[in-house]
Amino acid sequence: MEDRQESRGIFGEINLDRVDVTAPPPAEEPERQYYFMARDRELVRAKEAELGRSLRACVVTFGCQMNAKDSEKLLGILRAIGYEETDSEDADFVLYNTCTVRENANQRLYGRLGQTNSRKREKPQMLVALCGCMMQEAEEVEKVRKSYPFVDLVFGTHNIFKLAELLYLCLTEKCRVIDVWESTEQIVEELPAERKYPFKSGVNIMFGCNNFCSYCIVPYVRGRERSRAPEDILDEIRRLAADGVKEAMLLGQNVNSYGKNLPEPITFAELLRRVEEIDGIERIRFMASHPKDLSDELIQVMRDSKKICRHLHLPLQSGSSRILKLMNRKYDKEQYLDLAAKIQREIPDISLTTDIIVGFPGETEEDFEETMDVVRKVRYDSAFTFLYSPRTGTPAAAREDQVPPEVAKPRFDRLLREVQQIAAERCGRDLGTVQTALVEEIDSHDPSLVTGRLSNNLMVHFPGDARLIGHLVPVRLTEAHGFYYMGQPES
Ligand code: 5AD
Ligand code: SF4
Repeated sequence: MEDRQESRGIFGEINLDRVDVTAPPPAEEPERQYYFMARDRELVRAKEAELGRSLRACVVTFGCQMNAKDSEKLLGILRAIGYEETDSEDADFVLYNTCTVRENANQRLYGRLGQTNSRKREKPQMLVALCGCMMQEAEEVEKVRKSYPFVDLVFGTHNIFKLAELLYLCLTEKCRVIDVWESTEQIVEELPAERKYPFKSGVNIMFGCNNFCSYCIVPYVRGRERSRAPEDILDEIRRLAADGVKEAMLLGQNVNSYGKNLPEPITFAELLRRVEEIDGIERIRFMASHPKDLSDELIQVMRDSKKICRHLHLPLQSGSSRILKLMNRKYDKEQYLDLAAKIQREIPDISLTTDIIVGFPGETEEDFEETMDVVRKVRYDSAFTFLYSPRTGTPAAAREDQVPPEVAKPRFDRLLREVQQIAAERCGRDLGTVQTALVEEIDSHDPSLVTGRLSNNLMVHFPGDARLIGHLVPVRLTEAHGFYYMGQPES
């Protein structure tokens, strides 16, 4: 029963002691994975007895919230197997959950792997594994195969649920295991997950993306859109609520098209209504929204909701209608501006944030000025700005009119200054009011303070101690500092 007590996973019913490890592995999932978890646990225990210490595993996550969620699942499996979790890469099992959305993510991984190689030389029994989006690219797997011989295990985005089985192969065959699937229809539910925070959790509502924006590699590495059944999502959130979770973040590449392809179609807005009914859940967030699919129904549900946070991330990518067409975004500048204005009119306290790419192939100074124009009109609360990064295999990467860095970089700097200036002004707008903060942690700079997240996603630092973590606290916002507040708790 120790797994059950130790694991903060929501699937409390896992009891590996009941698995018959003398039988052949079951064919069905997730039973098959429970079987391999039990087998792995035997091997881990034997190794622990030999070394006279516990074995430690480290999962390093690159990239987005979807990857962070996957890492929680991976850690849940490793913990059930008997590994102790550590943040140090000087562990017995180190797993890198990779991202490939922009080239610098790839470079960061290879930098880290160089250091891991030196560690492994001193500690040869250490296992090194790679998974995630970058491993869905054949060239990257080839590079790892040839140039990184110390990597023991490689798998992709479609088979993360098989970690226990793949690890078993690695441990018993003592050979390198590379298993990357091109796609899958399978959604394996009911595996353990190790939540990073007891009071908030991401919940996958769909996987993959069908949009094929011309710059984006995600549809190639995460596959086609697959929505989870609403009952499965609601069950998971009910269990999370029973386990003390107050804030649920619904995750998908494009949540606004949730449910369209289910046997019984359902809208994202309807799913939100049902999540709202779950007792114990006090806050609902979601990521990411494509403007082309954002419905009036969703705006109404957000407006009338007591639980959905006052934050909407609405990626613009470019303000130029010409570039948006080349990007295959399926909206133009005017449509985007109308949508943003409608949202701001219906939900006046909404915080709008966005993603913008600078230097998409063929972008002219006029195109860039259109982006600046949208930024000034919408006045985002914050914006993630990216230099365009060509991704092999995407249509935009094959274009001949790539914008040279000496042209793109100054534009990027101008845009960044503008968004920062506007964000700092926007941040002051709630100064002096009392807002509810969900306390997340002790302030990392000053231990007499705690850090909480406001509904609009900004952080506030205020006096308090560890007992407040996980609680919703009313706070008066006393100082605005551009992208965060200082405050005082209201009694
Ligand atoms: N180059 C630069 N930025 C990109 N993004 C996606 N693909 C690329 C690329 N090739 C950005 C988009 C997206 C965010 C997650 O990453 O702005 O919304
Ligand atoms: Fe990429 Fe576009 Fe899908 Fe977002 S919507 S993941 S930018 S293809």
